[in-house]
Amino acid sequence: MGRTDDDTWDVTESVGATALMVAGARAAETESAAPLFRDPLARVFLDAAGEGTWNVFDRAGGDADPELAGHLRSLLDFFAARTAFIDDFFSAASEAGIRQVVILASGLDSRAWRLPWPDGTRVFELDQPKVLAFKAATLREHGAQPTAERTEVAIDLRQDWPMTLRQNGFDEAAPTAWSVEGLLRYLPSHAQDLLFERLHELSAPGSRVVANAPTDDAASPDRVARERELTQRFSSVASTGGATTDVAALSYAETRTDVVGWLREHGWEASATSVPEAVAHYRGRPAAEADAIPSTFISGRRRTIHDEEDS
Ligand SMILES: C[S@@+](CC[C@H](N)C(=O)[O-])C[C@H]1O[C@@H](n2cnc3c(N)ncnc32)[C@H](O)[C@@H]1O
Repeated sequence: MGRTDDDTWDVTESVGATALMVAGARAAETESAAPLFRDPLARVFLDAAGEGTWNVFDRAGGDADPELAGHLRSLLDFFAARTAFIDDFFSAASEAGIRQVVILASGLDSRAWRLPWPDGTRVFELDQPKVLAFKAATLREHGAQPTAERTEVAIDLRQDWPMTLRQNGFDEAAPTAWSVEGLLRYLPSHAQDLLFERLHELSAPGSRVVANAPTDDAASPDRVARERELTQRFSSVASTGGATTDVAALSYAETRTDVVGWLREHGWEASATSVPEAVAHYRGRPAAEADAIPSTFISGRRRTIHDEEDS
């Protein structure tokens, strides 16, 4: 299951299956006793996709061994906090008057259907063609209606996506709220750098960005080996017919540019929130395992001329 520079995938294959994994976590959260958010479309996607590792969260409380059950709880905390953090980011961006939204690597993100976007909001969703085709076909069959004007941009994010985004009506003069959720680990570090350079070039002053980024620790061989071992055990609790999505093998365990530092150097205000901080904030209790997920949540805002005058 090695990666190549121009690999492509359907939603049940390779990196596509990670979109189903996140949908699996969002479905489990939605159906839990005290959910942080409600994403009913997540279950619709899972039902359409059939059996696979992505159903592992439904069995997290079952007969999983204690170590695996702890890891699954950590993943559920992580995905729930990440979803709530990004929902809050979009709510603040809308309140600030931003009406242009770009979701990079949108996967099965259903925010264009479930968030209360102000009138006139336009949401662009970018992902691989087959992933977007599955999403569109599933939602069409389900009769779901978006809550914003939505534009699909089927493209590989290692290619010239800004050109295609512009051709689809993106307005460079308007401030944008960008989401980079669950993407960076699946890009080589040089592709991550290029992605942020392009995002910056397309961002009018006042634009905002939210992302989650691997921490330095994510590239350590011990971490990679442990994640691989734990995810391989997913098939023992999910009914996968033996197939397992090996997330570690799909990821680029490389040293990366510090996103917050890079944004600050390029005229953005930016800050990082650790996963335990976000879990404690949203759940009102400590994370299941403090250092289980080597990722951090980042938000930023491109400074305007008025900020410069004020400072
Ligand atoms: C872990 S999923 C996250 C999906 C969504 N952002 C969410 O959080 O629910 C990763 C997504 O990144 C997309 N992706 C990864 N690399 C990509 C690339 N080079 N071009 C386009 N999409 C990519 C995958 O197709 C998949 O939908």
